[in-house]
This record gives sequence, C-alpha cells and structure tokens, in this order.
Amino acid sequence: MILVTGATGYLGSHMVVELLNRGYKVYGIDNFSNSSHSIISRIKRIATHPENFLFRELDLADKSSVGLWLMHNSYNISTIVHFAGFKSVPDSVAEPILYYRNNLDCTMNVCTIAQCLGIKNIIFSSSSTVYSDVNQVPFNEETATIGGSSPYGWTKIMSEQILRDYCNSTGNNCLHLRYFNPVGSHESGLLGDTNDNGLMVNILRAANGESILSVFGDDYDTKDGTCIRDYIHVDDLIEAHIASINFMDKNRDCGVQIFNIGTGNGYTVLDMINAFFNSVGKEVPYNLDPRREGDPPILIANNRKAVDILGWSPKKTLEEMCISAQHYYEKGVKYDSNDSST
Ligand code: UD1
Repeated sequence: MILVTGATGYLGSHMVVELLNRGYKVYGIDNFSNSSHSIISRIKRIATHPENFLFRELDLADKSSVGLWLMHNSYNISTIVHFAGFKSVPDSVAEPILYYRNNLDCTMNVCTIAQCLGIKNIIFSSSSTVYSDVNQVPFNEETATIGGSSPYGWTKIMSEQILRDYCNSTGNNCLHLRYFNPVGSHESGLLGDTNDNGLMVNILRAANGESILSVFGDDYDTKDGTCIRDYIHVDDLIEAHIASINFMDKNRDCGVQIFNIGTGNGYTVLDMINAFFNSVGKEVPYNLDPRREGDPPILIANNRKAVDILGWSPKKTLEEMCISAQHYYEKGVKYDSNDSST
C-alpha cells in the first residue's frame, strides 16, 4: 500500500488515480485546505480500481491528530509519497510563518509516520525553486541551492534537509523530486490545477473571458523580458513518481537521492501566451505589470539524471499541456454543479 499525503490536491489526486489504475492499494490523507471534498468522488469515478482507495481527512501538520491516526492505523504501507504542503510563491512572501510552520510540520510528521509504521521509502515533492544561481541554467542536481528565492523555496530546502537527516539516521530511503512547473490536467477533464496564483490557471481565465492576465515583470534578462520556466505536463510528472517507486523497489538501500523532474525546455510568459493561442485558438488578453516578489528569473531543468537512473522521460508537448488545461477549464472547473453524487 502507498500512503499519499495531499491526496486531493492537484498533483496528489493525479497520483492516486495513476496508482489505483496500476493496481496499487492507496491510502490518501488530506485536510482539503487547498482542494475540495468532491475530488474524492472524482477520483473514484475515474480510477479503474476505486475499491482500493482508502481516505482519511487529516491535517498532517497537526501532531496530535497524526498521533491519534497512528494509534488506529495498522496498514502495511511500503512508501509515502509526500505532496502535502502550501505551494504558492507569492503567498509565502506575504505569510512566511504560515508557510514555514505548515510545510515543515508536515515534513516532520511524515518522518514520524515513517518511523511509527516502519515505512522504508519516502518520495518528497521538492521544487526547482530551490535553485537560485541563474548563471548555472539549466540546473543539475549539484547546482547550489543556497538562498531559496522565497519562503516557499526555503521550506523545500529545509524539508529536504530534515528528510536527509532523518533517513541518514534510520537507514530509510528518500527521493527528492525537484519539480519544475507542472501544468495540464487529467485526460478525463475532472482533475486539474485550481491554484489562483499559477500562470496557466490565469491564462485560462483570461483566454475564457474572466479576466485580463497580469504578466509579472518584463524587465528580466531574458529574450522578451519575462520570466522563463520549464513547464511539464502533470502526466509526465506523475510518471516520474511511478518510475521512482519502481526504482526504490529494485534498489532497497538507495538512500537519499535528488532528481530534477522537468523537460529541459524553457519558455517565457509571453511564449506561453502564444503557445496557448496556437494550440487552443484563444487569445489571452494581458497587461505588462511589475515583477512579483520572490520570482526567480529562469528555471530550466537538466533532467539527465532522472532519464539515466530512473529510466523516465517526459513525453508531452507544450501544445498538449495547453489543450489539456483548457479541457479541465471547460469540464472540471464547473463539474460539481452537475455532479449529484458529490
Ligand atoms: C510553480 C509552483 C511551485 C513550484 C514551481 C517550480 C504553483 C503555484 N507554484 O511556481 O509550487 O515549486 O513552479 O518551478 O504551482 N506569472 C505571471 N502572471 C500570473 C501568474 C504567474 O506572469 O498571473 C508568471 C510568474 O511571475 C512566473 C511564471 O509566470 O514567472 C510562473 O509562475 P507560476 O505559475 O506561479 O509558477 P512558479 O511561481 O514558478
């Protein structure tokens, strides 16, 4: 059985469905702080083996709730996939203590769960935002992480360290997957990103007439002055987790390892606006606005290590990312009002 924290979030819900489809038993926990209860019924509707999904509403940052849950839990869990945590760069700049408290407590409680239940393997959702030196783009896993560019980035660096120290002391295994920018949605159109601050979510709103996109900063040292990111389809990102589980099954004492999970291709914000128009056929109205605090100018992966060691490679194009994001906007976002079972 696999334990998925943050199981109803954007990435966690995709992970749960993929695991169920592959025949795994899955135990999900979440406190719905960044999702909704309807995700449970969506997961059960989409997955081929919904009967293998157990779920408990639980605040992972709350030590006493976790302790109570541990007292009553006797499942045989082999791996924890740890997605839970706040993930918005601008929110973390506005409320740093909230971010440090929540994200670090979640990580420490994952260690407690692993210890109490004798779980050997952990896969941690880290982030490319840990890299800070633009002179070293594209980043490999050895690139210095000194100085996360936002409190959110620091929570990822610190969580990696907590997990590293924990695993070194116990002999546990942990893979830190440093995600670049996940976008796109599940092929059903029922699971997708809802984060108000994310670029793709705001492109969708603008393209579909809800708002005008704010492009945050046009004076960076890039070809058109806007920030560069390495966007990766959520399906490819989840495949990297499946490859990680397989890798840990084969390498029972793999220790702590870091993998960049990105495509290796960088696009500016204006590139993304154009790509959306070219693939979906909708104009994205936008204004050029000041920089957003905490944004690193360029994040692009060197993904060689994941390709070589995990045997994984990203498959989906930017066009597919845009089309699938629009699919979720048309179907998933408004789905609950038509979904009588939720
Ligand atoms: C995202 C993830 C973060 C992950 C990181 C990895 C979210 C909320 N954040 O952060 O968890 O660790 O990727 O690289 O999913 N932008 C605009 N206008 C907008 C929104 C964004 O111009 O309305 C710009 C931003 O300034 C940035 C780029 O688009 O340059 C991407 O922003 P965003 O989608 O928020 O992702 P990250 O901040 O990179």
